[in-house]
Amino acid sequence: MKVLVCGGAGYIGSNMTELLSRHGHSPVVFDNLSKGHRAAVQKAEFVQGDFGDFDFTIEVLKKHKIEAVMHFAAFIEVGESVDQPLRYYDNNVSKTRTLLAAMEAAGVQKFVFSSTAAVYGMPDQIPITEDTTKCPINPYGETKWAVERMCHFQSQTGRLRYAVLRYFNACGAGFNATRGEDHKPESHLIPLIIQAAMGKRDNIKIFGSDYPTPDGTCVRDYIHVEDLAKAHLLALARLDSEAQQVYNLGNGKGYTVRQVIDCVRKVSGKEFKVVEVGRRPGDPPVLTADASKARNILGWKTDYPELEKIVESAWTFHTANPNGYND
Ligand code: UFG
Repeated sequence: MKVLVCGGAGYIGSNMTELLSRHGHSPVVFDNLSKGHRAAVQKAEFVQGDFGDFDFTIEVLKKHKIEAVMHFAAFIEVGESVDQPLRYYDNNVSKTRTLLAAMEAAGVQKFVFSSTAAVYGMPDQIPITEDTTKCPINPYGETKWAVERMCHFQSQTGRLRYAVLRYFNACGAGFNATRGEDHKPESHLIPLIIQAAMGKRDNIKIFGSDYPTPDGTCVRDYIHVEDLAKAHLLALARLDSEAQQVYNLGNGKGYTVRQVIDCVRKVSGKEFKVVEVGRRPGDPPVLTADASKARNILGWKTDYPELEKIVESAWTFHTANPNGYND
């Protein structure tokens, strides 16, 4: 299938592009390189451009005879979304509306959308199922939820077939640790701890140690980026028979911040300073997924259920690419 990968030069999108190629699909990466890395795209056609440009997006969809679109081009920083909500509504909602309108105009129906556990806000139920109440507590989660609703209503017209995938904590480096995280600035836990272990930062801060969890630090469900990509492939294949799909993607096992720090110590063999500071606003104490729907319906199986393997892949990527993609 010819698949347009919006944001295919980014962390998850570039892993997806690689997986699509390996499975005989023809991905076309569509990325404005505002966050992504050209060097992360190796086996795919690359088009530099913006999915918020209606006319150009239609041209790209038609020229490349695109049959499905995968969308990884959202802004993802929770804190930044609180500071600049309008930027998030613009990029994540308005531009996605334009993308869907361009798809409609070009007659492309299939759409796979990266959503997030942030749509659940502070969930009233753990583990979280797809039916858990959606109550985002920041503009980032709210903009993802808005797009989910937009997909829902657009598909009711019969002109869109979509799969929404709600990621828990995406991490690790895919494809023999060649495609890892390179966010600037970095805000995610595992790459930050690794930077501390590599001596690239003075310490790692623990945001809150008084949560109602086994060791007082937040619990998250860490899911390897290649496992995430696999679920997209399965959901894409199922769009022929099912026009509206929503799945949680996580391992269903939670690790505390301290456990993740200990794991990086073990994998790296390095010591580094850990500093306990206050809570980061908007962090729910525990987020773990019930991903049985993806397993049962899509037949999704994860290859990296163990945190140590995930951290090993990330460590290999960061030590081999200490400056990221160098661009
Ligand atoms: N943390 C620290 N120190 C740090 C960075 C993070 O203690 O320097 C903690 C956070 O407080 C949190 C955990 O480590 O408890 C994980 O933090 P991340 O920033 O790596 O990830 P989040 O759980 O905040 O965010 C993830 C996704 C978001 C998504 C969110 C859903 O990255 O896109 O889950 O709540 F919105």
